[in-house]
Amino acid sequence: MTKIRIAPSLLAADFARLGEEVRAIEQAGADWLHLDIMDGHFVPNISFGPSLIRALRPHSKMPFDVHLMIAPADPYLAAFAEAGADLISLHPEAGPHLHRSLQTIRALGKKAGVVLNPATPVDCLAHVLDLTDLILVMSVNPGFGGQSFLTSQLAKIAELRRMITESGRDIALQVDGGVTLKTAPDCIAAGADVLVAGTAVFGAADYAVAIAGLKGSA
Ligand code: DX5
Ligand code: ZN
Repeated sequence: MTKIRIAPSLLAADFARLGEEVRAIEQAGADWLHLDIMDGHFVPNISFGPSLIRALRPHSKMPFDVHLMIAPADPYLAAFAEAGADLISLHPEAGPHLHRSLQTIRALGKKAGVVLNPATPVDCLAHVLDLTDLILVMSVNPGFGGQSFLTSQLAKIAELRRMITESGRDIALQVDGGVTLKTAPDCIAAGADVLVAGTAVFGAADYAVAIAGLKGSA
């Protein structure tokens, strides 16, 4: 059976107690920490930048999974790598040279991810799979937590799972947006192996119960 990883999104945490929140989800069984970087330009919201990642880094051993919703992204890749990111994912729409951006992330010694918006087709990945460690399917339009899951993205997850299997490569398949106890089983059935969850974890009374529930092992 595939191991399902849960990556709680810090966007839904209590911003006045971020260090504590990160320690709490790690203790509760979270696998990765998902960090949503928004610039108020590529997406209609502003979140936080590399200095927050640097400040949180000593508080956790979890891989830091940085989701860049910024354009351009290239000028900031080194700053996120130096701040403590382990994975850096970006949207193909963030710049004209996806291949070069992925090369840059790999050259910084980090894992590279490609994020597909709900309207973005899977074809853009066809010639960069050799540079891709993670594919992230957005199941909401990026910019905000707490939105409803777009079921139209399940077919895309299944298509990507087939593409990954055919390639024979070790590529994680992540889903982000509206992942809850209700939608997680569909994501897993379609072939996702990493679930991002903001509200479903940080909005729960017991983080460990929420994480175990999302993994389907509760
Ligand atoms: C949306 C972000 C998501 C968001 C998920 O732009 O990429 O990571 O925080 O939040 P929920 O799980 O609440 O939909
Ligand atoms: Zn995200």
